[in-house]
Amino acid sequence: MAKLLTGLKPTGEFTLGNYIGAIAPLVQMQDAYDEVYLFVADLHALTIYQDPTELRQRIRKFIAMYIACGVDPAKTTIYLQSENPYIPAISWLLECTTQFGEASRMIQFKEKSKKNENFSVGLFTYPVLMAADILYCDTDYVPVGIDQKQHVELARDVAERFNHKYGETFRLPTPYIAKEGTKIKDLKDPTKKMSKSDENPQGVITMFDSVEQITKKIMRATTDSETQVKFDEEKKPGISNLLNIASVLSNRRIEDIETDFVGKNYGDFKKYVAELVSEKISAIQQKYQSLLESDELDKILDKGIKKSIALAQEKYLEMKEKMGIVR
Ligand code: TYM
Repeated sequence: MAKLLTGLKPTGEFTLGNYIGAIAPLVQMQDAYDEVYLFVADLHALTIYQDPTELRQRIRKFIAMYIACGVDPAKTTIYLQSENPYIPAISWLLECTTQFGEASRMIQFKEKSKKNENFSVGLFTYPVLMAADILYCDTDYVPVGIDQKQHVELARDVAERFNHKYGETFRLPTPYIAKEGTKIKDLKDPTKKMSKSDENPQGVITMFDSVEQITKKIMRATTDSETQVKFDEEKKPGISNLLNIASVLSNRRIEDIETDFVGKNYGDFKKYVAELVSEKISAIQQKYQSLLESDELDKILDKGIKKSIALAQEKYLEMKEKMGIVR
């Protein structure tokens, strides 16, 4: 009974990076697994202040976008993290099994706490809540971008420690990192990740961008001063990023795309990438609009949360029992 699970945090817009890093691999793999879980990590969103009205709208947009991207609600259990009260309860039990030192080593925490002088306690315990998300349903694989790999590894370490202390309770999860597109870079600064919360929207493609916006952003993407379309992340981070995007969206090997552009210039290549991205995103947007307006979403979420709660309740009671907090 192999299982797959992942989640996205509804902060900022849903980006092409999110699609390529987490959703596209899940869509590709959903039929090969017995159980698949996909949720909106709305509790995680709160670690940094969100405008409540905007957050409410965004949560719904994310769910509609999941399905528009090809996630099949008949196959995949889709739910909101915050509607499952056992997840934060499990998270507390796991917090007491997590060492302060290992949580302090999380790169994302170090980076985000540096940016924010008054960061919340939640920003620090964030990876433990993520461990609860992953461990409660005994998932085997977690498709994520490379930036989340360390968090999935922490979940695995915490699970191992719990199993060792209290007896076999959790299946050990493994991060699933797609070969290409593990980290889609910012188009303006291809040395950093394309991120929802970026200050410069010109570097970020969102799943809500128009064809004109996509084309403009890709045609103006930062590249180098050479002319050869060749994958080289060190010397040609901009071109390599576009090659990665093109490879994932066209399902073609990077080398084959390089061959198509021998003797041509960057302008031709960018035009090709812009068309690929525009086509993909426009098709998704058409589905998205009709979904957003239908009452299908609530039915899908009601069904999803029921299943998620049943599983989490069972795991929570098992943990409590093993830890000795019973009457
Ligand atoms: P989040 O919301 O930052 O990102 C969602 C997913 O998208 C991936 N991703 C990218 N992949 C490739 N290139 C990029 N530029 C890029 N930007 C984002 C992320 O790696 C992630 O897979 N903590 C998680 C949400 C979460 C979660 C979980 C994930 C909460 N609980 C349990 C898996 C399992 C997060 O903030 O992802």
